[in-house]
Amino acid sequence: MVPMMNPILALREAGVLTLTFNRADKKNALTQAMYATLHEELQQAAGDDAVRVVVLQGRQDLFSSGNDVSEFLQRPPDGLDTPVFHFLRTLADFPKPVLAAVGGPAVGIGTTMLLHCDLVYCGDNALFSLPFVNLGLSPEAGSSLLLPLRVGPALAAEMLYFGEPFAADDALAMGLVNRVLPPEQLLDYAQAQARKLAAKPSASLVSTKELLRKGQREAVQAAIADEAWQFARMLQGPAAKEAFRAFLEKRKPDFGGM
Ligand code: COA
Repeated sequence: MVPMMNPILALREAGVLTLTFNRADKKNALTQAMYATLHEELQQAAGDDAVRVVVLQGRQDLFSSGNDVSEFLQRPPDGLDTPVFHFLRTLADFPKPVLAAVGGPAVGIGTTMLLHCDLVYCGDNALFSLPFVNLGLSPEAGSSLLLPLRVGPALAAEMLYFGEPFAADDALAMGLVNRVLPPEQLLDYAQAQARKLAAKPSASLVSTKELLRKGQREAVQAAIADEAWQFARMLQGPAAKEAFRAFLEKRKPDFGGM
């Protein structure tokens, strides 16, 4: 029997918890089971003094293709009490620094989760996208609040309405990432930065994060909740269903004036 690969790898070392998306055959598409693991790992890490910093990563050439499209068709999340929103809410409120290392595609939640990370490093091969409208959906993960705050309302509208992918240099110019690196240096650099942070006094990091986020914590949670209801409704709609079927059938969607 072929051993099942764990789609989320969790490694604790030198004060750093590294959570690695490990489902390359599906381009690291995230399933409800994977969100549940991420949520549990983060919850445990929040209360574990041995974890001082968290790193989210995929491979140097693949971050995540976003939510698993087959699951969106077959078992769409129907509200806040589902693994994807447990994960997002825990990530948004996570008390310790979270770093992300992004190489290759970062689609949908693969990009919006980054808005909750404290530091984002990406490879020059990174390709971000927010394709919600093109999939018959609406923004999630607090992005309707955080994206305009980060890049300004005009650019946020353009990014969310058109959903066109954008590259590492654009992400750097918009302030979505901290630094662009050659892909082969990405994971080592993120790990080195995480270890550097983990060697600092943890209480000071936690306090600094609390102060940096204080003004927006409640608003972010409220945005995630508001968006979740709309998102759940849109997932059931004909446009989303057509978009998901088209993706799985490897054809262009036909919205036919929907
Ligand atoms: N959910 C489920 N399966 C996915 C997936 C997703 N989000 N993303 C990729 N896959 C699957 C493909 O269906 C394909 O499966 P198959 O080998 O059984 O046919 C496999 O992963 C490889 O994907 P493919 O599209 O052929 O790879 P690519 O290198 O040409 O393109 C991406 C990679 C990431 C650019 C492309 O897969 C993509 O755009 N995915 C995004 C899907 C999406 O809309 N996600 C957002 C949801 S909000």
